[in-house]
Amino acid sequence: MRIGLLDNGYGRFVGGCCYSRRNTHHLPTTRIVFSSVAIILLFYFLFLFHPNLVTLILFFYAASAQSIGVCYGQVANNLPPEPEVIKLYHSNRIGKMRIYNPNHSVLEALRLSNIELIVGVANEDLQSIANSATDWVQRNILPYAPDVKFKYIAVGNEIKPQNAESSYVLPAMQNIYNELVAANLQTQIKVSTAIDLSLLGSSYPPSSGLFSATAAPYISPIIGFLANTNAPLLANVYTYFGYLADPANIKLSYALFTEPGVVVRDGQFGYQNLFGAIVDTLYYAVEKAGGPNVEIVVSESGWPSEGGEAATVDNATTYLRNLIGNVKGGTPRKPGKAIETYLFAMFDENQKGPAETERHFGLFSPDQVLKYQISFD
Ligand SMILES: *[C@@H]1O[C@H](CO)[C@@H](O)[C@H](O)[C@H]1NC(C)=O
Ligand SMILES: *[C@@H]1O[C@H](CO)[C@@H](O)[C@H](O)[C@H]1NC(C)=O
Repeated sequence: MRIGLLDNGYGRFVGGCCYSRRNTHHLPTTRIVFSSVAIILLFYFLFLFHPNLVTLILFFYAASAQSIGVCYGQVANNLPPEPEVIKLYHSNRIGKMRIYNPNHSVLEALRLSNIELIVGVANEDLQSIANSATDWVQRNILPYAPDVKFKYIAVGNEIKPQNAESSYVLPAMQNIYNELVAANLQTQIKVSTAIDLSLLGSSYPPSSGLFSATAAPYISPIIGFLANTNAPLLANVYTYFGYLADPANIKLSYALFTEPGVVVRDGQFGYQNLFGAIVDTLYYAVEKAGGPNVEIVVSESGWPSEGGEAATVDNATTYLRNLIGNVKGGTPRKPGKAIETYLFAMFDENQKGPAETERHFGLFSPDQVLKYQISFD
């Protein structure tokens, strides 16, 4: 790992060098050479002295403008210790993380890491938090803020209107929000929930996007809350499952961003990939549900490397590389508006299931080897 860390650090350093050179082209060449040499020497000695510090400095430099995060799921019995995982985020310049419950070992390891965090409320905790959030916020947020950069609290994951927990989601969101107000953290930490695409009733073409009649009474008041509190809606978006569900109508190339031309024409907008079409569909649905200014954050997206149809390392590499390359550019309806996107997931998780593919969504194997030739910035 140390060799990989050095390679990454050096590559980034060369990038930094060129960047500052571009901005100082009016300086005499000798001065540029001198300052470049000085910076190289400084980093060289810093590296000899403290390699992790160098990684951290380069990380702070690189991570600020990133749209890409990675979900750190822990449904496995063979993952590295949390501090190792944080180092892996740093050395790969991944500046954002999503976790699914406020695991204190993870939160401790995240202190002063500068990694922006989505922390989840587990579905089984919703009922008690709908009653009172005081204890949850006092145990899991206040002791770690401001050392941990909480960005969003995802109150429940993929809750559907027919689930028993659905009536607890909005009251739990409101209670957590009120606790944050009491601690004056409500502008820094936004309260939301992570939905899946099953709530959509209509999705083709994107401008027809609408939540289903079953989902609307559940999600519309939540969208009202998000609009009032200036928070985004989190959505788990898998073109992989879209392709699996309907391979006759959804071409693999459309799901993998490899279509050379427009596949779906929708008024003035042309869609070349399914991911952008889904995000715009969500924007239309959220707007019709009363949230024209509510943003969409993609809280999960990924592609499995084995275990089922279309699940190969090559297809996953194509998907992830193109996803990372595309999110900065926004969607046809909101061009240039970067889509904050969290890749699912950091590691292959050997205790997930039931489908075999569920165990192969990781970017890294449990021994910390990157499965794909991709970079995160
Ligand atoms: C938190 O993480 C540790 C170490 O990975 C694990 O042993 C523990 O079960 C986790 N706790 C919860 C509540 O998930
Ligand atoms: C991608 O998935 C398709 C559909 O299963 C498969 O036919 C194809 O061989 C895969 N492509 C690569 C490059 O792995």
